[in-house]
Amino acid sequence: MEVAHDPGTARFGNFINYYSFNPPNNRLELIGEDFLKFLEADYSELDCIHCLDIGCNSGDLTTALYEKLSSTVRVKFLGVELDTTLVERCHASNRYPGEISYQKADLTSAADRQDVISEYLRKHAIDRFHVVCCFSVTMWVHLNNGDAIFREFLSYVAKLSLNLLLEPQPWKCYRNAVRRMKRSQCEPFEHFEKLQWRTEVEKCIEGFLTENCAMDIKTSYGHTKWQRPVTWLCSK
Ligand SMILES: C[S@@+](CC[C@H](N)C(=O)[O-])C[C@H]1O[C@@H](n2cnc3c(N)ncnc32)[C@H](O)[C@@H]1O
Repeated sequence: MEVAHDPGTARFGNFINYYSFNPPNNRLELIGEDFLKFLEADYSELDCIHCLDIGCNSGDLTTALYEKLSSTVRVKFLGVELDTTLVERCHASNRYPGEISYQKADLTSAADRQDVISEYLRKHAIDRFHVVCCFSVTMWVHLNNGDAIFREFLSYVAKLSLNLLLEPQPWKCYRNAVRRMKRSQCEPFEHFEKLQWRTEVEKCIEGFLTENCAMDIKTSYGHTKWQRPVTWLCSK
C-alpha cells in the first residue's frame, strides 16, 4: 500500500504528514488527571500496564501517550497500523524501543488479529490490554467496510479493552473524506451511501459500546478543535 501524499487518496486515513495538521497535543490535552490518577490507584502494583494504539500512523501520538501515561505507572505500548510505510516510519523514529513496539496489522483482518494481537496477549500472559487507544480511526474502518463489519470491529475492540480511550469522527468528517476522494478522482467509498449510522454516528458508536459491548462511560472529556469527542470507557 502506498502512503498517501494527496489527502484525497488516503483511503484509510494513512496520511503521510498527519501530525503536521493534527499534532498529538490536540487530543492529549483533553485526557484528564482523573485518568492518570485511576492508573496509579488501580495498576501501580503491576510490573507494567499494556496499552494498544490502534491505527498509530507514524507513531507521534503513540509516543506522546506513552510519555503521558508513563508519568504514573510503567507502561508498554503496542502500536498497530495497516500501512507498511507508516510502520517503517514508526520503527525509524521510535525513541523508546524497549517500551513501545510497532507492528503492521489491519485490525479488521482475522489473520492479523491472530498473528499480532492474540500473539502479544499470549506472550505477556494477559487477556486484555489495560488501555486501548482508538483515536481518529473509526470513520476509516466504517467507510471502508460498512456497518456490519464496523460493529464487529467495535465489539472486538471492546473485548480487548479494560479501558478504552476513544475519539470517533463525526458525520461531517465522513462527508469531507468522501468529497476529497471525489476531488482526487479516486474510487468512491462503496459503503458510504448505505451506511445506517449516519448523522449521529458518534452517539451510535457510544450507544453500541455501552448497550451491546458491556462498556460504561467513565468520563467525557469534551471535544477537540476538530469537534471530535474524546471519551474514556471501561469494561463493566
Ligand atoms: C487519521 S489516522 C489517525 C492516527 C492516530 N490514531 C491519531 O489519531 O493520531 C488513521 C490511521 O489509522 C490507520 N488505519 C485505518 N484503518 C485501519 C485498520 N483497519 N487497522 C489498522 N490501522 C488502520 C490508517 O492507516 C491511519 O494511519
